Amino acid sequence: MTRARAGTGAPLEQTCLVLGGSSGLGRQLAQRFAAAGYAVVLLSSDRRDLEALAADLRLRFGVGAAAVAMDLRKANLDLGELDLALEPLPPLTVVLAPAGMNADEDRADLAGTEQLAIERANFGSIRDIVVHCLPRLRSAPAGLVVGFGSVAAVRGRTRNATYAAAKRALQSYFESLRHALSTTSVRVQFYVLGYLDTNLAFGKTAPFTRASPERLAGYIYQHRSAAFGVKYHPAIWRPICMVVRLLPWSIFRRLRF
Ligand SMILES: NC(=O)c1ccc[n+]([C@@H]2O[C@H](COP(=O)([O-])OP(=O)(O)OC[C@H]3O[C@@H](n4cnc5c(N)ncnc54)[C@H](OP(=O)(O)O)[C@@H]3O)[C@@H](O)[C@H]2O)c1
Repeated sequence: MTRARAGTGAPLEQTCLVLGGSSGLGRQLAQRFAAAGYAVVLLSSDRRDLEALAADLRLRFGVGAAAVAMDLRKANLDLGELDLALEPLPPLTVVLAPAGMNADEDRADLAGTEQLAIERANFGSIRDIVVHCLPRLRSAPAGLVVGFGSVAAVRGRTRNATYAAAKRALQSYFESLRHALSTTSVRVQFYVLGYLDTNLAFGKTAPFTRASPERLAGYIYQHRSAAFGVKYHPAIWRPICMVVRLLPWSIFRRLRF
């Protein structure tokens, strides 16, 4: 991957697509990559939010920036608008996929369109867009795809049943993708995240402090060339998740969370 000094704003001949680029971690990632000179395509559901942010990135960093409004909860996405947005920009080399949503009613008996929507937004649509972008990434001298999971998905709980299932599916898919692309120039990375200080966690009580999305975006940018499959952030979550995964059912079932 061609490098630019972070924060110089000198345009690079590369484009970064951010799924879920309107808020939280995605917004910070979009700013971080734009600050390094990447043109940015922001994708999420609210066009007005995205267009304002794209205009801000163009103005502040002198890079190309485009907005694509798409509801990831839907099946059979029409990706024509994404192709149109990418067309005038430099080659796509980076796909970052921090999009995600959860819902209070996401319990084990949730069914029908509400359940499918959570599954699509956290797994199916992300997979479809990554697959759609693969030919472009493969033709770049160095490509990067980054996915995001959650420590809340390490074991099935009473809450967030479909969210957790979808995040685990996403992690498994990213591992398969890493295998499939291991002989190519495309790197595949997956971050399992602890609590972040963003809208998704707003109003929810968390037993641990929340990480800054801005700092995490900087970390992800710095490690964009690193050859790892899965990283926990903060790193303390790796041993915690390992212990939680090994807890016998007789103990785990008593933890009603
Ligand atoms: N926050 C936490 O404590 C935490 C903990 C562990 C893991 N994570 C994971 O980390 C990632 C980033 O989280 P975050 O806290 O930055 O989330 P966030 O602030 O809620 O942002 C989520 C992004 O996804 C987009 N999105 C959600 N539903 C969408 C839909 N149906 N169609 C299109 N776009 C949609 C949102 O845009 P619109 O709503 O405008 O569409 C937004 O841009 C997520 O994958 C999340 O699951 C977060």
